[in-house]
Amino acid sequence: MIYLKTDEEIELQRECNVILAKTLGEVAKVIAPGVSTLQLDKIAYECIKDHGAEPGCLGYEGFPATLCTSVNDVVVHGIPSADVILKEGDIVSVDTTVLKNGFYGDSAYTFPVGDVAEDVMNLMRTTKAALYKGIEQAVVGHRLGDIGFAIQSHCESAGYSVVREMVGHGIGRSMHESPDVPNYGRRGNGVVLKNGMTIAIEPMICMGRRHIYIEDDGWTCRTVDHKPAAHYEHSVVVRNGKADVMSTFEYVEAVLGERFI
Ligand code: MF3
Ligand code: CO
Ligand code: CO
Repeated sequence: MIYLKTDEEIELQRECNVILAKTLGEVAKVIAPGVSTLQLDKIAYECIKDHGAEPGCLGYEGFPATLCTSVNDVVVHGIPSADVILKEGDIVSVDTTVLKNGFYGDSAYTFPVGDVAEDVMNLMRTTKAALYKGIEQAVVGHRLGDIGFAIQSHCESAGYSVVREMVGHGIGRSMHESPDVPNYGRRGNGVVLKNGMTIAIEPMICMGRRHIYIEDDGWTCRTVDHKPAAHYEHSVVVRNGKADVMSTFEYVEAVLGERFI
Protein backbone atom coordinates (compact mmCIF):
# COMPACT_ATOMS: atom_id res chain seq x y z
CA MET A 1 0.00 0.00 0.00
CA ILE A 2 1.47 3.34 -1.05
CA TYR A 3 0.16 6.24 1.04
CA LEU A 4 -0.23 9.54 -0.80
CA LYS A 5 0.15 12.47 1.60
CA THR A 6 -1.97 15.58 1.85
CA ASP A 7 -0.30 18.99 1.79
CA GLU A 8 -0.84 19.24 5.58
CA GLU A 9 0.86 15.89 6.15
CA ILE A 10 3.74 16.94 3.93
CA GLU A 11 4.29 20.09 6.01
CA LEU A 12 4.52 17.90 9.12
CA GLN A 13 7.04 15.67 7.37
CA ARG A 14 8.98 18.71 6.23
CA GLU A 15 9.27 19.89 9.82
CA CYS A 16 10.93 16.57 10.75
CA ASN A 17 13.33 16.92 7.85
CA VAL A 18 14.30 20.48 8.76
CA ILE A 19 15.10 19.37 12.32
CA LEU A 20 17.12 16.53 10.83
CA ALA A 21 18.96 18.92 8.51
CA LYS A 22 19.89 21.14 11.46
CA THR A 23 21.07 18.05 13.32
CA LEU A 24 23.38 17.10 10.45
CA GLY A 25 24.67 20.68 10.60
CA GLU A 26 25.47 20.32 14.31
CA VAL A 27 27.25 17.03 13.64
CA ALA A 28 29.18 18.64 10.79
CA LYS A 29 30.61 21.19 13.24
CA VAL A 30 32.46 18.55 15.24
CA ILE A 31 33.56 16.02 12.63
CA ALA A 32 37.37 15.98 12.79
CA PRO A 33 40.23 13.57 13.38
CA GLY A 34 40.17 12.28 16.98
CA VAL A 35 36.40 12.49 17.46
CA SER A 36 34.51 9.25 18.18
CA THR A 37 31.30 8.34 16.41
CA LEU A 38 29.65 8.05 19.83
CA GLN A 39 30.37 11.76 20.40
CA LEU A 40 28.52 12.51 17.14
CA ASP A 41 25.61 10.39 18.33
CA LYS A 42 25.29 12.34 21.59
CA ILE A 43 25.21 15.66 19.75
CA ALA A 44 22.53 14.41 17.39
CA TYR A 45 20.40 13.01 20.21
CA GLU A 46 20.51 16.34 22.09
CA CYS A 47 19.75 18.37 18.99
CA ILE A 48 16.72 16.28 18.04
CA LYS A 49 15.37 16.37 21.60
CA ASP A 50 15.97 20.13 21.84
CA HIS A 51 13.65 20.53 18.86
CA GLY A 52 10.85 18.60 20.58
CA ALA A 53 11.33 15.58 18.33
CA GLU A 54 12.31 11.95 18.81
CA PRO A 55 15.26 10.07 17.34
CA GLY A 56 13.49 7.63 15.04
CA CYS A 57 16.37 5.15 14.77
CA LEU A 58 16.92 4.71 18.51
CA GLY A 59 15.27 1.40 19.41
CA TYR A 60 14.05 0.78 15.87
CA GLU A 61 14.17 -3.00 15.49
CA GLY A 62 16.64 -2.89 18.37
CA PHE A 63 19.05 -0.38 16.80
CA PRO A 64 20.95 1.06 19.80
CA ALA A 65 21.64 4.66 18.75
CA THR A 66 20.34 7.89 17.25
CA LEU A 67 22.72 7.92 14.28
CA CYS A 68 23.99 5.38 11.86
CA THR A 69 27.68 6.29 11.49
CA SER A 70 29.30 4.38 8.67
CA VAL A 71 33.05 4.83 8.22
CA ASN A 72 34.97 3.98 5.00
CA ASP A 73 34.06 0.38 4.02
CA VAL A 74 30.94 0.46 6.20
CA VAL A 75 28.18 1.17 3.70
CA VAL A 76 25.30 1.87 6.11
CA HIS A 77 23.99 1.09 9.62
CA GLY A 78 27.30 1.52 11.44
CA ILE A 79 26.71 1.67 15.21
CA PRO A 80 28.22 4.72 16.96
CA SER A 81 30.97 3.70 19.36
CA ALA A 82 33.55 5.24 21.67
CA ASP A 83 36.00 2.83 20.03
CA VAL A 84 35.50 4.20 16.53
CA ILE A 85 37.71 7.28 16.40
CA LEU A 86 37.64 9.25 13.16
CA LYS A 87 41.03 9.78 11.57
CA GLU A 88 42.38 12.01 8.84
CA GLY A 89 41.38 10.69 5.42
CA ASP A 90 38.30 8.76 6.60
CA ILE A 91 34.82 9.31 5.25
CA VAL A 92 31.77 8.91 7.48
CA SER A 93 28.15 8.60 6.41
CA VAL A 94 25.86 10.10 9.05
CA ASP A 95 22.27 8.89 8.60
CA THR A 96 19.34 9.42 10.90
CA THR A 97 15.58 9.71 11.11
CA VAL A 98 13.52 12.21 13.09
CA LEU A 99 10.01 11.51 14.38
CA LYS A 100 7.64 14.34 15.21
CA ASN A 101 3.86 14.78 14.99
CA GLY A 102 3.54 11.16 13.90
CA PHE A 103 5.77 11.49 10.83
CA TYR A 104 9.35 10.60 9.95
CA GLY A 105 12.09 12.50 8.17
CA ASP A 106 15.12 10.64 6.79
CA SER A 107 18.38 12.06 5.43
CA ALA A 108 22.07 11.20 5.29
CA TYR A 109 25.34 12.92 4.37
CA THR A 110 28.81 11.46 3.87
CA PHE A 111 31.47 13.73 5.36
CA PRO A 112 35.20 13.87 4.71
CA VAL A 113 37.38 13.78 7.82
CA GLY A 114 40.24 16.21 7.30
CA ASP A 115 41.98 15.77 3.95
CA VAL A 116 40.62 12.88 1.92
CA ALA A 117 42.30 11.22 -1.08
CA GLU A 118 41.11 12.59 -4.40
CA ASP A 119 39.71 9.25 -5.61
CA VAL A 120 37.56 8.97 -2.47
CA MET A 121 36.42 12.59 -2.83
CA ASN A 122 35.35 11.69 -6.35
CA LEU A 123 33.32 8.74 -5.02
CA MET A 124 31.50 11.13 -2.69
CA ARG A 125 30.95 13.74 -5.40
CA THR A 126 29.59 11.15 -7.80
CA THR A 127 27.26 9.61 -5.19
CA LYS A 128 25.88 13.00 -4.20
CA ALA A 129 25.37 14.00 -7.83
CA ALA A 130 23.61 10.66 -8.41
CA LEU A 131 21.20 11.44 -5.58
CA TYR A 132 20.18 14.65 -7.38
CA LYS A 133 19.93 12.79 -10.71
CA GLY A 134 17.49 10.44 -8.99
CA ILE A 135 15.57 13.32 -7.44
CA GLU A 136 15.15 14.91 -10.90
CA GLN A 137 13.20 11.82 -11.92
CA ALA A 138 10.84 11.93 -8.92
CA VAL A 139 8.03 13.63 -10.80
CA VAL A 140 4.46 12.67 -11.59
CA GLY A 141 4.16 10.20 -14.47
CA HIS A 142 7.71 8.89 -14.26
CA ARG A 143 8.38 5.44 -12.82
CA LEU A 144 10.55 4.09 -10.05
CA GLY A 145 12.83 2.52 -12.65
CA ASP A 146 13.61 6.00 -13.98
CA ILE A 147 15.00 6.98 -10.57
CA GLY A 148 17.05 3.79 -10.30
CA PHE A 149 18.32 4.08 -13.85
CA ALA A 150 19.42 7.69 -13.38
CA ILE A 151 21.40 6.80 -10.25
CA GLN A 152 22.87 3.57 -11.59
CA SER A 153 23.94 4.95 -14.96
CA HIS A 154 25.57 8.01 -13.37
CA CYS A 155 27.60 5.90 -10.94
CA GLU A 156 28.47 2.98 -13.18
CA SER A 157 29.67 5.26 -15.97
CA ALA A 158 32.11 6.72 -13.41
CA GLY A 159 33.38 3.19 -12.68
CA TYR A 160 31.56 2.67 -9.38
CA SER A 161 29.10 -0.03 -8.34
CA VAL A 162 25.61 0.10 -6.84
CA VAL A 163 24.55 -1.87 -3.75
CA ARG A 164 21.48 -4.01 -4.49
CA GLU A 165 20.45 -5.40 -1.13
CA MET A 166 19.72 -2.02 0.44
CA VAL A 167 17.30 0.42 -1.19
CA GLY A 168 15.42 3.65 -0.61
CA HIS A 169 11.80 3.52 0.49
CA GLY A 170 8.52 5.27 1.01
CA ILE A 171 8.45 7.38 4.18
CA GLY A 172 5.65 8.82 6.27
CA ARG A 173 3.94 7.57 9.41
CA SER A 174 6.37 4.66 9.19
CA MET A 175 10.11 4.94 8.62
CA HIS A 176 9.93 2.36 5.86
CA GLU A 177 6.81 2.30 3.70
CA SER A 178 6.08 1.00 0.23
CA PRO A 179 7.44 1.31 -2.34
CA ASP A 180 11.07 0.17 -2.31
CA VAL A 181 13.18 2.70 -4.19
CA PRO A 182 16.16 0.83 -5.70
CA ASN A 183 19.27 2.66 -6.81
CA TYR A 184 19.33 0.59 -9.98
CA GLY A 185 16.70 -0.13 -12.57
CA ARG A 186 15.45 0.19 -16.08
CA ARG A 187 13.91 3.27 -17.61
CA GLY A 188 10.14 3.10 -17.93
CA ASN A 189 9.88 0.18 -15.48
CA GLY A 190 8.16 -0.15 -12.14
CA VAL A 191 5.55 1.74 -10.15
CA VAL A 192 4.20 4.95 -11.69
CA LEU A 193 4.94 7.98 -9.48
CA LYS A 194 1.94 9.91 -8.22
CA ASN A 195 1.48 13.39 -6.78
CA GLY A 196 1.98 13.33 -2.99
CA MET A 197 4.11 10.18 -2.81
CA THR A 198 6.89 10.73 -0.26
CA ILE A 199 10.04 8.70 -0.78
CA ALA A 200 13.55 8.52 0.64
CA ILE A 201 16.14 8.29 -2.15
CA GLU A 202 19.48 7.04 -0.86
CA PRO A 203 22.20 5.84 -3.23
CA MET A 204 24.78 3.55 -1.59
CA ILE A 205 27.71 3.50 -3.99
CA CYS A 206 30.94 1.49 -3.82
CA MET A 207 34.39 2.37 -5.07
CA GLY A 208 35.05 -1.33 -5.74
CA ARG A 209 32.64 -4.23 -6.08
CA ARG A 210 29.04 -3.93 -4.96
CA HIS A 211 28.96 -6.96 -2.65
CA ILE A 212 28.25 -6.41 1.02
CA TYR A 213 27.90 -8.42 4.21
CA ILE A 214 26.35 -7.76 7.62
CA GLU A 215 28.55 -8.15 10.67
CA ASP A 216 27.68 -10.29 13.69
CA ASP A 217 26.20 -7.24 15.47
CA GLY A 218 23.29 -7.63 13.04
CA TRP A 219 23.66 -4.08 11.68
CA THR A 220 27.06 -3.00 10.39
CA CYS A 221 26.98 -3.37 6.61
CA ARG A 222 30.43 -3.54 4.95
CA THR A 223 31.79 -3.99 1.46
CA VAL A 224 33.26 -7.47 0.96
CA ASP A 225 36.35 -6.00 -0.72
CA HIS A 226 36.73 -3.39 2.08
CA LYS A 227 36.89 -0.53 -0.41
CA PRO A 228 34.99 2.61 0.65
CA ALA A 229 31.34 3.34 -0.02
CA ALA A 230 29.41 6.62 0.07
CA HIS A 231 25.78 7.31 0.96
CA TYR A 232 23.61 10.42 0.64
CA GLU A 233 19.89 10.58 1.29
CA HIS A 234 17.01 13.01 0.90
CA SER A 235 13.30 12.72 1.67
CA VAL A 236 11.38 13.85 -1.39
CA VAL A 237 7.77 14.56 -2.42
CA VAL A 238 6.76 13.53 -5.93
CA ARG A 239 5.21 16.54 -7.64
CA ASN A 240 4.22 17.67 -11.10
CA GLY A 241 7.22 18.90 -13.07
CA LYS A 242 9.70 19.09 -10.20
CA ALA A 243 10.27 17.04 -7.06
CA ASP A 244 9.97 18.81 -3.71
CA VAL A 245 12.98 17.94 -1.52
CA MET A 246 11.85 18.09 2.12
CA SER A 247 15.29 17.55 3.63
CA THR A 248 18.19 19.90 2.92
CA PHE A 249 21.97 20.00 3.16
CA GLU A 250 22.01 23.79 3.60
CA TYR A 251 23.06 23.62 7.27
CA VAL A 252 25.84 21.19 6.43
CA GLU A 253 26.90 23.46 3.59
CA ALA A 254 27.04 26.47 5.90
CA VAL A 255 29.39 24.58 8.23
CA LEU A 256 31.62 22.95 5.62
CA GLY A 257 31.99 26.10 3.53
CA GLU A 258 34.61 25.45 0.86
CA ARG A 259 34.83 21.83 1.90
CA PHE A 260 31.21 21.28 0.82
CA ILE A 261 31.20 19.16 -2.32
N1 MF3 B 1 17.91 5.88 8.15
C1 MF3 B 1 17.96 4.54 7.63
C2 MF3 B 1 17.32 4.55 6.28
O1 MF3 B 1 17.73 5.35 5.50
C3 MF3 B 1 17.38 3.52 8.53
C4 MF3 B 1 18.25 3.29 9.67
S1 MF3 B 1 17.94 1.75 10.34
C5 MF3 B 1 17.85 2.11 11.97
O2 MF3 B 1 16.41 3.86 5.93
F1 MF3 B 1 17.71 1.03 12.58
F2 MF3 B 1 18.94 2.75 12.32
F3 MF3 B 1 16.82 2.88 12.16
CO1 CO C 1 18.38 7.17 6.38
CO1 CO D 1 16.15 5.84 4.34
